[in-house]
Amino acid sequence: MPVPPADSPSGRLLTEVTWVKTAERNAANMDVLGAVVTAVWVMLPAYLPNNVAVLAGGGRPIDGGRTLGNSRLLGDGKTWRGTAAGTAAGTALAVALSALASPVGSLVSYDLPTFPLFAGFGLALGAMLGDIAASFLKRRSGRERGAAFPALDQLDFVVGALVCVFAIAFEWASATFTLPVLAVILLVTPLLHIVTNVAAYAIGVKNEPW
Ligand code: CTP
Ligand code: MG
Repeated sequence: MPVPPADSPSGRLLTEVTWVKTAERNAANMDVLGAVVTAVWVMLPAYLPNNVAVLAGGGRPIDGGRTLGNSRLLGDGKTWRGTAAGTAAGTALAVALSALASPVGSLVSYDLPTFPLFAGFGLALGAMLGDIAASFLKRRSGRERGAAFPALDQLDFVVGALVCVFAIAFEWASATFTLPVLAVILLVTPLLHIVTNVAAYAIGVKNEPW
C-alpha cells in the first residue's frame, strides 16, 4: 500500500497512530523492565543468605545428629552457624538496600522499594527455612547430603522467602509482590541461582554445582 504524504490528513493520522503505537510499546517494555528490576532488587535479601551460609557454615548441625527412619532429619549440611550468618547477612543487606533505594532508584528511573526491618528479616530467614525444608524432603526421599534435587534446589529458598515474608510483613509483601513482579521472580530466580552456584563451584567454595 502506498504511504500517504506526511502533510496530508491521512498522512498525519498515520504518523499519529504510529506514534501512539510506539508509545504503547515503550510503556509495555518499561513495565517488563520495571518488573525485572524490582524483582531482582526485592529478592536480593533472599538471594544472599544461602551463599553466606556456604561460606560461614560448619559446627553443630541443626538436627543434632538425629535421624528419622534410616536417614538424618536434615543432615550435616544445615548448621546453626550457617543459618544464623545467612539470616543476619540477608537482613543487613535489606537495611543497606533501604538506604540506597532512593539514589539507585533515580539512577535507573524506577521507584525501588525499601525494606521495613521485619520484611528484610522475613525474606532472609524464609530463604534459609526454605532450604532447610528442602533438605528435610531430600533426606526423606533417600538423597544423601549434597545430592541434587532439580527444581527444589532452585526454588526452595524463593518459596520459603515469599511464604515467610507474607506471614511476617503481609501489608508490605502484598504491596510489593505484584503479579508481574511475582512472575519475574519465578522465572529469573532459577536462572540466577544456577549461575551463582556454578560460579561458587568453579571458584571452589561449593562442592557441587547446584
Ligand atoms: N550451610 C549451613 N547451614 C545452612 C545451609 C548451608 O551450614 N542452613 C552450609 C553447609 O556447610 C552446607 C553448604 O552450606 O554443606 C552448602 O549448602 P547446601 O547446598 O544447602 O547443603 P548441602 O551440603 O548440599 O546439603 P543438602 O543436601 O541438605 O542440601
Ligand atoms: Mg546442596
